[in-house]
Amino acid sequence: MKIDGRHYRSIWLDPDGASVRVIDQTKLPFAFETRRLSSLEDAVVAIRDMIVRGAPLIGAVGAYGLALAARDAAGDGAIARAYDALNQTRPTAVNLRWALDRARAVLLAAPSTRRLELAYAEAGAIADEDAACCEAIGDHGAALIRDAAARKGGARVNILTHCNAGWLATVDWGTALAPIYKAARAGVDLHVWVDETRPRNQGASLTAYELAGEGVAHTVIADNTGGHLMQHGLVDLCIVGSDRTTRAGDVCNKIGTYLKALAAHANDVPFYVALPASTFDWRIADGVKEIPIEERDGDEVTYISGRDDTGAIRRVRLTPRGTPARNFAFDVTPARYVTALITERGVCAANEDALRNLFPEARGA
Ligand code: MRU
Repeated sequence: MKIDGRHYRSIWLDPDGASVRVIDQTKLPFAFETRRLSSLEDAVVAIRDMIVRGAPLIGAVGAYGLALAARDAAGDGAIARAYDALNQTRPTAVNLRWALDRARAVLLAAPSTRRLELAYAEAGAIADEDAACCEAIGDHGAALIRDAAARKGGARVNILTHCNAGWLATVDWGTALAPIYKAARAGVDLHVWVDETRPRNQGASLTAYELAGEGVAHTVIADNTGGHLMQHGLVDLCIVGSDRTTRAGDVCNKIGTYLKALAAHANDVPFYVALPASTFDWRIADGVKEIPIEERDGDEVTYISGRDDTGAIRRVRLTPRGTPARNFAFDVTPARYVTALITERGVCAANEDALRNLFPEARGA
């Protein structure tokens, strides 16, 4: 997607052919800075500290992390250690494990003399495929938005989204935002309600940044606003992304997604989840019981950062000193609240039969 008229992906190979460049998402929307990742440790820190975030993107960074590790050592033991270091960075998004499994399998099947070259090729393929999948998700999802516009006789379509599931969260295009970009570029009149997404505010800082960059009409709302908007007919459909979706269609996504799905269900608002195949965890069915939910530092809840009117970036405390806080990063929306899944192969119901129809080759259970 474009920043100031120049096309960017969220990750690319440096001209030296060895280091990897990413956009430092902790600096957005106030500064556009890139970071060079030159070692396994750089990749681990980038994922762990959320310099990069979003399920598909951390998968791509994980695969490149294995390639960076292979620059130092490409024996079986070194690959196993790099795999573990990367896999432990964030527990919920399954794309990380998926990408690491895929890259590791290629490396272990090859003689050590070829592993470095193959590691870069596989990471590049994972990144390219993610961009292509997300563009296809955009095409399938845009048809749903066009249908909504037709039902309204061409009047403006209002879409609610949560967190950032845009091009910054993937390699390009995004998942939930790809249909919005495609529909907007095709001339559909639409407007996006952007949940701010406390505590890290991915909606307010990243989704708003992306939509502004693409010229899509949008309004940031406090996280608790969606139910009110839906009751008053101000949301035509919701589209969110996912960090892990089970073979039964249970959707794990950013904390707060479940409440939006409940409100959508109660108000007959379609609730769509956009995701590539790499986000399915075929090994598990019950998302509530089986998906590990990342719990992050309570400081993310008790403090907030932003730019003050002098232009300085400040971090301020919101609570009395010493107030305890818990910070669950994700929740699970049971499949019964999901109207449909939007994948690169098309739109399907959130249940095992429909998913196996679309992905007959899927293994894991
Ligand atoms: O904690 P984050 O910012 O990595 O969480 C991101 C999300 O929850 C996204 O909605 C999800 O990864 C889907 S992104 C295409």
